[in-house]
This record gives sequence, C-alpha cells and structure tokens, in this order.
Amino acid sequence: MAPILHLHGVSKLYGNKVAVDDLHMDVPPGEIFGFLGPSGSGKTTTIKMITNQLAATDGEVRVFDQSLPVRATSDFYRRFGVLTDNSGLYQRLTIEENLALYAKLYDVSKQRIDDVLKLVHLQDARGQTVAKLSKGMIQRTVLARTLLHEPELLVLDEPTSALDPGNVQHIHQGLRALNERGTTIFLSTHDMQEAETLCDRVAFIHEGRLQQVDTPKNLRRRFSEGMIQVELTNGDIHTLANTPAYAKQLYEYMAEKQIAAIHSQEPTLGEIFVRLTGKELV
Ligand SMILES: Nc1ncnc2c1ncn2[C@@H]1O[C@H](COP(=O)(O)OP(=O)(O)OP(=O)(O)O)[C@@H](O)[C@H]1O
Ligand SMILES: [Mg+2]
Repeated sequence: MAPILHLHGVSKLYGNKVAVDDLHMDVPPGEIFGFLGPSGSGKTTTIKMITNQLAATDGEVRVFDQSLPVRATSDFYRRFGVLTDNSGLYQRLTIEENLALYAKLYDVSKQRIDDVLKLVHLQDARGQTVAKLSKGMIQRTVLARTLLHEPELLVLDEPTSALDPGNVQHIHQGLRALNERGTTIFLSTHDMQEAETLCDRVAFIHEGRLQQVDTPKNLRRRFSEGMIQVELTNGDIHTLANTPAYAKQLYEYMAEKQIAAIHSQEPTLGEIFVRLTGKELV
C-alpha cells in the first residue's frame, strides 16, 4: 500500500541554520507514528512541512500521494487534521460555539460535536468562554476541533504537553479509538512514555537528523544488553547474562524455588535516546 506520508531527503534551513537535515521517512496508512526528540530538534519544523504550512528547502514531501506544497484546496485540508501551538480559537466564543463554526465549515453533524466533546472530557465545560479556559482546556478544545471531521491523517504537535495524567490517559484512549476507525496518526512528543504506550513505530530525531525508526519493542530489544535480573525470595537481586553460561545458575535458583521474580533488563526509549545522542529527551 502506498504510504500516506512520504519524506525523501527533506531538509529545512532557516537562513543558514539547518533545522531539519536529510529526512527519509514513510508512514503507511493505519499507523500511529511517534516523532520523538528534545526541544529544538526539528519536530515542529517537520510537522509544518508535512501539513503544507512551510516549504522544504530540499527534498520531497508527499502526503496522500500528492507532492507538497499544494495550493490550499478544501479537499486537501478536509483529509487531514493538524494540531500545532497556534490555537486559532475565537476567544470570545464558548467551546461549543467554536466547534459549531468548524462543524459548519466541514459540514459535520451536531452529534459529532457531542462525540468529540466527550472524547476530550469537555462535555460539562462546553458553555465556557475560551478566554477563561486553562492551558490544558484550550489544548483539549483545539484537539476536539481537529478531530471533528474524522480526518484520514491526524498530525499532532505535542498533543498532551499541557495535560495532567488523567486527561493524558483519556486523550490516548480517544486517539486509539480514532485510529481503530481508520485514522493514521503522526504525533510529535518528548514524552517517551507517550511514545511507548501509544505508538506503533517511533522515530528519534536529534539536531534535525533522524537517528532510528522502529517499533518501541524492537528498539528496546535491539538496544538491550541481554541481561536479566533475578529477584530471590530472600530479597537478593542478581543480574545474569542471558547466555548458556548462566543457565545452570538460573536452573539452581528455580530448582530450589528461590525465585520471586525475573525481569528482562530492557532499556526504556529514553535510555536508548541518551545512548544514541548523549542527550536527554526533555
Ligand atoms: N522561524 C524560525 N526561524 C529561525 N529558526 C527557527 C525557526 N523556527 C525554528 N527554528 C530553529 O529550528 C530548530 C528546530 O526548531 P523546531 O521548532 O522545529 O524544534 P522542536 O523540536 O519543535 O522543539 P520544541 O520541542 O521546543 O517544540 C531550532 O534550533 C529552532 O531554534
Ligand atoms: Mg515544537
């Protein structure tokens, strides 16, 4: 199947500053793809290029098999939803009035407004004026607006950065449900937990360059040291290499019923990132 998103040798320079450097990336339909990198690594710049807001200096960006930038046609915009930092909400209108404006623009039913409000946990706040909302509520309102027309491709720039853990979990559930109904999701984050729990595949970006692209599971396995940790009933913890040389030792613990727990020593995505780049994700 043709990728929904295709980047080939994409670079972006601001003056002579390289923000994104020779990016190659394909996202097939149906995937939740995480774009993971610290502040200033080029996430927002990339997102602007794949959402027709910024032209690449070099390389090719294709979305829905069309080469970007394209002229702003409503058909193109109808097919994706984008969430970036510029909220574009009408401050003096309520949450619901803002959504109603978009519903009209996209020819979406009133029922859909109820659905998305539920999805972002704002049913009870629908009558509040945007000017008086908290940062997290604004973020959820913008997300609701993005979801309104059930886009084929959803591009989210750090969608949960201002939210508390309860709301993060709720939004993740909503995004998963949307993905199950067929929406491809591309999201940037510097929250490795988010990448780990939500994404089918993740890409690491550092100083504008792509470091690794794989499933979280494969990344952890590829970068694991092949160690296992054995916790004994007496409270002792032993770290053994996952090799034949240690099999006898493990067998003995088992034969004597000494084992309380065994953990594989796989690194987290954050630890892998540090190993690759020498930098923390935050
Ligand atoms: N309009 C601009 N003009 C000049 N430099 C820019 C501009 N926008 C971004 N940059 C620079 O390009 C680099 C990448 O920025 P970008 O906003 O893409 O990073 P990011 O990964 O989204 O960071 P954050 O996590 O802080 O949002 C940074 O060094 C930034 O200073
Ligand atoms: Mg950014």
